[in-house]
Amino acid sequence: MDSLRGMKQKLFALLSYTSTFIYNDKMHEFKRELFRDLPRFQSDDGPLRLLEIGCGSGANFQYYPGGCVVVCSDPNAHFEEYLRRSMEESAHLSYGPVLVESAERLGPVQDASVDVVVSTLVLCSVRDVRKVLLEVRRVLRPGGALFFLEHVVSSQGSWLYWLQVLVDPLWSRLGDGCHVTRDTGTELQSAGFSHLQLKNLSEPKLSAVIRPHIMGFCIK
Ligand SMILES: C[S@@+](CC[C@H](N)C(=O)[O-])C[C@H]1O[C@@H](n2cnc3c(N)ncnc32)[C@H](O)[C@@H]1O
Repeated sequence: MDSLRGMKQKLFALLSYTSTFIYNDKMHEFKRELFRDLPRFQSDDGPLRLLEIGCGSGANFQYYPGGCVVVCSDPNAHFEEYLRRSMEESAHLSYGPVLVESAERLGPVQDASVDVVVSTLVLCSVRDVRKVLLEVRRVLRPGGALFFLEHVVSSQGSWLYWLQVLVDPLWSRLGDGCHVTRDTGTELQSAGFSHLQLKNLSEPKLSAVIRPHIMGFCIK
C-alpha cells in the first residue's frame, strides 16, 4: 500500500513538473503582476525572507526579487530532484532548508519569522484550509503577507459550477487531492488577516474546470 502511494506521488511530481512550464507560459503576466509587490514586505534589517508552501518543483523562483532568501516546503519528497534543478536555474536567490512538511504543520518554522508566505495552486490540495491559514499567520511576522494564486470554484449555479461539482470526485483522485470546488476566497476573507487584496480572474487559455482563479495578498 505504502509503495503504491509512493509511486503515485513520484508520478504526480513528474507530471506536475512538466505541466508547470505550460501553466507558467499561460499565466506569466499574472505571476509577474502578483509578485511585483513582494519587495514591499522586506524588513529594514535584512533580505526578504520568503517561505513557499507546497512549492512543488519551484515554478515561481524566476518571479522572486534578487537576494531573497527562500525556504521551500512540500509534503511530497519526490519533488526534490526538480526543485534542485529550479534552484540551480535561479541563482539570483539564496535558499534555506527544504522542508518535507504539510502546510497544516510547519513545525520547524518559528513564530513570526518570515516576511512573506507564497501559495500557488496549493490551497486546492491541502486537507484543511483553515488550519493552513492559521499556520501561515503563525509564521508570518506582523505586517508580513501571504501571496496567493489559486484556482477556485465558479459562481454557484453557473454551468461551470455544475461541471466542477461533477468532475471533482474523479479529479481529486487523479490529481493527488486537488479539488476544483474550493471557495478559497471566502476562506481567506474569514482567516483573520488585517487586509486582503484579492482579484478574480479567468484565463481562457486554461482548461475550463481550473479557469476561475483568485490572486492577491493578505497582510497579517
Ligand atoms: C499543483 S501542485 C503546485 C505546485 C507549485 N506550488 C506550483 O505552483 O507549481 C500542488 C502542490 O501542493 C502540495 N500539497 C499537497 N498537499 C499539501 C499540504 N497539505 N500542504 C502543503 N502542500 C501540499 C503538493 O505536494 C504539490 O506540490
